[in-house]
Amino acid sequence: MHLGRKTLSKFLIENVSGSHEGAALAALLVDVAAAVKAIAALSAKGALGGVAGTLESVNVQGETQKPLDVLSNTAFVNTFQLGGLVAGVASEEMDDPFPIRAPHTRGPFLAIFDPLDGSSNIDANVSVGSIFSILHAPGQQEPGLDDYLQPGTRQVAAGYALYGPATLLVLTVGRGTHGFTLDREVGNFILTHPDIKIPADTNEFAINTSNERFWEPPVSRYVEECKAGKTGPRERDFNMRWIASMVAEVHRILMRGGIFMYPRDTKDPSKPGRLRLMYEANPMSFIVEQAGGGASTGRERILDIVPGQIHQRAPVILGSRNEVDRLVRYHQEYDAGTDKSYDSPLFSERGLYRP
Ligand code: F6P
Ligand code: MN
Repeated sequence: MHLGRKTLSKFLIENVSGSHEGAALAALLVDVAAAVKAIAALSAKGALGGVAGTLESVNVQGETQKPLDVLSNTAFVNTFQLGGLVAGVASEEMDDPFPIRAPHTRGPFLAIFDPLDGSSNIDANVSVGSIFSILHAPGQQEPGLDDYLQPGTRQVAAGYALYGPATLLVLTVGRGTHGFTLDREVGNFILTHPDIKIPADTNEFAINTSNERFWEPPVSRYVEECKAGKTGPRERDFNMRWIASMVAEVHRILMRGGIFMYPRDTKDPSKPGRLRLMYEANPMSFIVEQAGGGASTGRERILDIVPGQIHQRAPVILGSRNEVDRLVRYHQEYDAGTDKSYDSPLFSERGLYRP
């Protein structure tokens, strides 16, 4: 039991609910926590929940859906629809945004979410998560598509839930990043990680190296230098991790630093990256920036991107500030033609990306 410790509700009452809008936002975040608890209970049952395997259906991204993807989406949609605090919702699992209509009540916000991120991991019992982004709704009228297409700088709140050995809810309302752990027996989220700060330096990088042949030169340069370790220009050894679950990856970075990359690549020229801007890159970038980290495409701050589509993709490089800055510099040098690393023995020997 954690009597005397700060619950999520108490935290929100103290930190968010100062105004009429703040009170509505606090109530909305309590609703998010309720949906997260339902998904945590469902995912913890594993195969016993009768929701293992894959469905026939494919989402708008062309990804096969898992039963838990669909159930998690329903948990969020129902919670938001009944909660009276949003005017519309958009989800990775729905082709188009979904306006709240009578008999349900519309509220002052829009909710955009990835109900179950990393869901290819479910059957392997590896951590998965949910990601959400909260924006202002346009006013009293029913929101149209354009109303959702706001840059990440306009997010009112964002967060993720991590369904791992423990369930955590990590969120920001623009005043730091805070983490809450679910006390399962009691059903409360308890503030366990106040004001998380990402160390500016790190020896750990995360990238799917099976895509290496599709990367741009600045990314290859960065990863080659990390792999060269003590004997390379960085003069220290690096470690690598890849969970294939962005929530778990970002959480590790919040806990001990690191850099996560799903960069622009040439695998499918129609896609400027793998991750989705509005419900993956933007909320995670807000969380990471509020924890003192950086989040860039390599050429632009992610939160500054003006979206053109609800499911649009973006290159993502985020985490420890100094490493993100270094990778941005490598992009600048490459674009300006001043990158001297091609002349280094490291690359001529390996012949990896000599243009
Ligand atoms: O939702 C996208 C996602 O599942 C992320 O959680 C994860 O970082 C990435 O895709 C994994 O991609 P890949 O299968 O290419 O490693
Ligand atoms: Mn996802």
